[in-house]
This record gives sequence, structure tokens and C-alpha cells, in this order.
Amino acid sequence: MIAMKIVGICGSPREKATDHVLKEALKMLEERGFEITFFGLRGKKISPCLHCDFCHKNKECRIKDDMYELYPLLREADGIVFATPVYNGGVSSQTKAVMDRCRALAAADFNVFRGKIGMAITVGGDRMGGQELAIQQIITFYVLNGVVPVGGGSFGANLGATFWSKDTLEGVKEDEEGFRSLRKTVRRFSDNLKGVAPGKEK
Ligand SMILES: Cc1cc2nc3c(=O)[nH]c(=O)nc-3n(C[C@H](O)[C@H](O)[C@H](O)COP(=O)(O)O)c2cc1C
Repeated sequence: MIAMKIVGICGSPREKATDHVLKEALKMLEERGFEITFFGLRGKKISPCLHCDFCHKNKECRIKDDMYELYPLLREADGIVFATPVYNGGVSSQTKAVMDRCRALAAADFNVFRGKIGMAITVGGDRMGGQELAIQQIITFYVLNGVVPVGGGSFGANLGATFWSKDTLEGVKEDEEGFRSLRKTVRRFSDNLKGVAPGKEK
């Protein structure tokens, strides 16, 4: 049987808290039998969308930068995980650039994202620094593009996985509640991908 593919996008410019928790999530998913790809935005050259509408006429983006490494991964993925640090109560600008540049994928194929499953991980320096606002932005991207968003369920992971890093890698590693929200979200994400009814493991 061919394994379902998951791409995890790390929206931090650093190899710290967000990078760590996304890699933990991908490890859990690999153990559940998925083929996983980590795509970090650290060091990548991904320009913001210029709204030149070249993609609408030519079915590809005019800006030939590192987004071209991510386009095929997104196209082929069954599941998408966006993980972002919280910046000013929202996603990082690196994450937002990726979302906006996906316009070119949809311009080439309107249904490119339809039926994929998406989950979100956000990492804030403060305990309540806007993690759910940033998740909301990711979920909005999913809904707008036909990706089915999943959270982790009530009692801890309502909209997805949320972490409190206290601005350090050590801080995020100590965030037990954050990891509980991650495990719950990964379970639902995996179940949705495999078409398993909630609570009925295959
Ligand atoms: C520009 C900027 C804005 C930030 N805004 C917020 C914020 O609104 N809320 C919050 O909780 N943390 C905020 N932080 C802190 C980061 O979210 C936090 O340090 C996070 O762990 C960084 O993730 P990383 O270690 O993966 O880079 C901000 C950090 C930066 C650099």
C-alpha cells in the first residue's frame, strides 16, 4: 500500500521552538505510517506575493524562488501541517508569504487543495500571546482553499496544537499542556486522513 504523504511547514526563521515541536509532530505521524516531509522556511528565499496576476494568465508563479521546492510537496500532499511562531498575534510573515504564494497553485488547478486535511501548530512566547488567533489564520487559509481543517477536540486542543515557549527552546520542551494538545491534534489529523471515525482506531 502506498503511504499517504504529509508536508510540515515550519514558519520560523530559527531552529528553535517551532522547529522542535513540528519535528515531534512529524515523528508521531511517521510512527502512524505516513510519509512525512519537513519543509523549514529558515534560510529560504520566499518573496511575498506581488499580485501581478501572472499566475492567472500563465498557470505558474513569476517569482522563481524557493517556493518552487514547496509547490510540488503541497500539490502531492494528502495532509498539511502549518507550524508557526506567533508574531504580533498572528502567523509569521514567512508563513503568510507561503500562504499567499499558494495563489499560483490554485490558479493552475482550482481544486489543487480540495479534500486535503490540514492541522495547525502555533508557538507563542507568552502563555496567551495569540496562539488561537494565529491558528485561526491558518484555518482560514485552509477553508478558503478547500483544505479540511481539523483541531484536537475539546479539553485542551480545540482548534489545534498551541504552545507556550517562554521564548526559549527549553521553555517549549517543558510545556506539557502544549504536547498534550499536539498529541490530541495529531490523533484527529491522522484519523481524518485514514478515514477513521472519531474514537474508533483502525
Ligand atoms: C516579531 C515578533 C513578534 C512576536 N509576537 C508575539 C506575540 O504576539 N505573542 C507571543 O506570544 N509571542 C510573540 N513573539 C515571541 C515568539 O512567538 C516566541 O518566542 C516563539 O517561541 C518563537 O518561536 P521560535 O523559537 O520557533 O522562533 C514574537 C516574536 C517576534 C520575533
